[in-house]
Amino acid sequence: MASLTSAPGLTTNEAPFIEQVRHEGQLYIHQPYELYSEENHEAWRRLYSRMKPRWERYANEHFLRGIDSLCLEAERVPRLEDVNRFLDPLTGFKAKAVSGYVPSFLFFDCLRNREFPTTITIRRSDRLDYLPEPDIFHDIAGHVPMHTDKAFADTLVRFGECAHTAAEIVSAIPDEPERLVRLTSIMKAMARFFWFTVEFGLMRSREGGLRVYGSGLLSSYGEIAHAIESPEVQRHPIQLEWVVNQAFEIDHYQPLLFIVDSFDHLFYLVGRLEDMMKKGKLNNVAPCEPSVNETDLRSFLRAAA
Ligand SMILES: [Fe+2]
Repeated sequence: MASLTSAPGLTTNEAPFIEQVRHEGQLYIHQPYELYSEENHEAWRRLYSRMKPRWERYANEHFLRGIDSLCLEAERVPRLEDVNRFLDPLTGFKAKAVSGYVPSFLFFDCLRNREFPTTITIRRSDRLDYLPEPDIFHDIAGHVPMHTDKAFADTLVRFGECAHTAAEIVSAIPDEPERLVRLTSIMKAMARFFWFTVEFGLMRSREGGLRVYGSGLLSSYGEIAHAIESPEVQRHPIQLEWVVNQAFEIDHYQPLLFIVDSFDHLFYLVGRLEDMMKKGKLNNVAPCEPSVNETDLRSFLRAAA
């Protein structure tokens, strides 16, 4: 019998197909399903089966409904076209295959168009726990079930509109150094808000307890339990002025999490974020992590031109 590791497959950082399309400069791609190796399917099966009981215990009800309505595969890596067949009629969202990192303005603009840039590679089956970059399990099992919820989907679209507002605001600044300083601060604020909500948010459940809705937590076997159970995690009702100034680091479990009441609440907060942006309140947020990279900056400046 052939070894599970013999085929190159679509393993994160080890996929020749991805190297090829990146070399050709293709960002939006198709999902070459036939390239998944048995090891890739095995990684999905193991990730999915060990997460399932944790979702039932810690995930919010909208996510659990989303998992059911997408009829997600438990045994094999899902096909994006199958996922979209169930997703699109619910909220108009679609998973869109990408070859890697999507510069931030393009990412937000995809959300505005109800498209979700989706990684198609999957982590190695012998390294299920640690992965600094997203993979198809994070994107399809962690994010996409949330996109079946109308209020949440509308919130993502609203977030995409905020990115356009940011580009418009900075395009009106004639002085280039000033434009860069202002844009860097606004992008930091947006990245922090996205991080503490869409990636690591907690929500109050109907019974009064806390449930997870952030996709970074929903796709992490260890952190989903830690986020809810650990006495060391600080959990606070979300306060926008705090979030936009709060640094975060990506390489360890989050020590600080914020709670929303509902997705209508989250939608309202994105509107307030845009309002703060228009009033200049995001022009000088705390200058710590995350750093804003050149590619992301350029993506906003190009949109503003
Ligand atoms: Fe994510």
